[in-house]
Amino acid sequence: MNAKLIDGKRIADDIIENCARRIDPLKSAGKTPGLAVIMVGENPASQVYVRNKVRACEKAGVYSEMHHMSADTDEKTLLKKIASLNEAEKIHGILLQLPLPTGIDNEKVLAAINPQKDVDGFHPFNIGRLCSGLPALWPCTPSGCMEMLRRTGIPVAGGRAVIIGRSNIVGKPMALMLINAGATVTVCNSQTVDLPAIAGEADILVAAVGRANFISAEMIKPGAVVLDVGINRTPDGLVGDVNFNEARTVAGHITPVPGGVGPMTVAMLISNTVQAAAG
Ligand code: GUN
Repeated sequence: MNAKLIDGKRIADDIIENCARRIDPLKSAGKTPGLAVIMVGENPASQVYVRNKVRACEKAGVYSEMHHMSADTDEKTLLKKIASLNEAEKIHGILLQLPLPTGIDNEKVLAAINPQKDVDGFHPFNIGRLCSGLPALWPCTPSGCMEMLRRTGIPVAGGRAVIIGRSNIVGKPMALMLINAGATVTVCNSQTVDLPAIAGEADILVAAVGRANFISAEMIKPGAVVLDVGINRTPDGLVGDVNFNEARTVAGHITPVPGGVGPMTVAMLISNTVQAAAG
């Protein structure tokens, strides 16, 4: 089998264009959507992600502000910055780029963001609503995966989905979204016994482990949809968590790296920012 590629870049461009159209009437009403991006320290991967996010804002017509804070910023200073952005009228979305330097309590600072401006969907209020299947600001990467499934016409209800990785950013919210959509969901982690057998039952396999080429052909059910969330820097360049060349011979659909899930994360961030501004 030769898997069909799910072109995340093309879908993301379409979403961003659509956002630009949604922004027009907001602008006319004097409410240009605004995003504040906070980055603490000099993590090179974060710098690339943040640059892509700011660029996408420019493309869509979203106002953006970059707040680059030094690596020795303490929790109190960061909380003050968040408090001031919570109050800022022209800011509708606040994104705190992760990871944060050690010594800062992630849960505490994420919970300090006004839930109405929490365009990453990491605030307990938004996670709680997602858990109940209620409208809210939902995390961008899993939202992007769901949107790719929807636009590719892949049925979710009744299918078996397996997620490899249980992070708060991807694995857990991905599980909630797939459950809400009617899939039968299994979430695996590094200690899962007989991972290949479990992965091999998936109609939809989501790889979010952060290990280059971790998913091999024998872990994939023939015809399965494989969504590769990994972005790993290797001597051979950027690669996903899925061994792409092996997987494409078995899967029915697959997302490439780069050009798959990554651009969708950015597009959903823009979409969440427009949603937050529209109120
Ligand atoms: N670091 C890696 N992925 C993400 C993300 O989706 N949002 C934020 N804020 N930080 C990240």
